Amino acid sequence: LRMPKIWAFITDFFTYETTKSVVVKSRSVGIINRVVQLLIIIYFLCWVFYHEKAYQVRDSGIESSVMTKVKGFGYHNNRVMDVADYVAPTQGAAVFCIITKLIITENQFQGFCPEVIPTRLTLSLFLCLFFSLSLPLSLSLSLPPGIITGACVNSSKGRRCEMEGWCLAEDDKVHMQPMMEVENFTIFIKNSIRFPMFNVTRGNFPSSLNATYIRSCTYDPEHNLHCPIFKVGEVLRYTGQNFSTIAQTGGEIAINIEWQCNLDESEERCEPHYSFTRLDAVFQKNGIAKGYNFRFAKYYKNENGTEFRTLHKAYAIRFDILVTGLAGKFNTVPTLINVVAAFTSVGLVRLLYSDCMFQKEAMQYV
Ligand SMILES: *[C@@H]1O[C@H](CO)[C@@H](O)[C@H](O)[C@H]1NC(C)=O
Repeated sequence: LRMPKIWAFITDFFTYETTKSVVVKSRSVGIINRVVQLLIIIYFLCWVFYHEKAYQVRDSGIESSVMTKVKGFGYHNNRVMDVADYVAPTQGAAVFCIITKLIITENQFQGFCPEVIPTRLTLSLFLCLFFSLSLPLSLSLSLPPGIITGACVNSSKGRRCEMEGWCLAEDDKVHMQPMMEVENFTIFIKNSIRFPMFNVTRGNFPSSLNATYIRSCTYDPEHNLHCPIFKVGEVLRYTGQNFSTIAQTGGEIAINIEWQCNLDESEERCEPHYSFTRLDAVFQKNGIAKGYNFRFAKYYKNENGTEFRTLHKAYAIRFDILVTGLAGKFNTVPTLINVVAAFTSVGLVRLLYSDCMFQKEAMQYV
């Protein structure tokens, strides 16, 4: 009894059926149908295939390596500064700082001494005078450079709270003229990239560029598009920043290298595009955390073995070199998928049509 059911299923399965179509000889229905189909075809041809290049496979997993080198000499605090003095870290990586201003505190020893910074003075002095207690850190306006002991001592500037730490404490409110020559320093960028999906390797300047040109050129978006040497002052100008302000407070600048490659064309046309932005621009209106600075120290020992150090507070322009990339190349799989999608969409018009329009229109003709 069950066999005929299965047999019926099999015979049903191996049949072919078509829908019965009704030809509606209405000009308005026909015109709207064709116009909508035409719009869909135009959309697919112009936007999906031509503009969005839907016939390509994409590789956005760019592999990149960046090397940098800064050049130039400047005067700071009556000393000539060279690369080893003003670039940190020195390895020539994709992120590096050019120090524009240094506040140097020499000969600091471990010990007890009065604190110096006047901004915290009134509050801490008040507390240490009247309570003689150790000052809770949360009450001070800025972090002291050592641990407050709670005692009061006389200093050359009057009575102060005593602190324990590296003495004498740094006074970072002193006025210091930044190194203005940084404006004329140059940054050489060597960037090599690879698109692993297509195994295409490119460099940010063509190997055909001759050595004398590379030594003498500076990047310019109109005349020297391929030059890998950037003048600091120009980079800041492209980001719309004022050099003398950023030299005082420090700041963060991004140099974006963008690789948009259509590998259906010649590989030679796979070239980088540079753009420049100030990364910390959002914080410029904040009262705190303006600019960019960091501290580092150099340690020494005197004859009797006591350690002392020289503390540097550095205001610097930090450069981040950010590399992004997207490469595309013709491939049959996305091409087929999108061609099928295009045909289906054209056919879909009919389906929608028969559902919402046809019944209404057809009623008039039946
Ligand atoms: C930078 O170079 C220009 C042209 O060589 C020069 O006129 C200018 O004085 C230099 N700027 C500084 C701060 O040295």
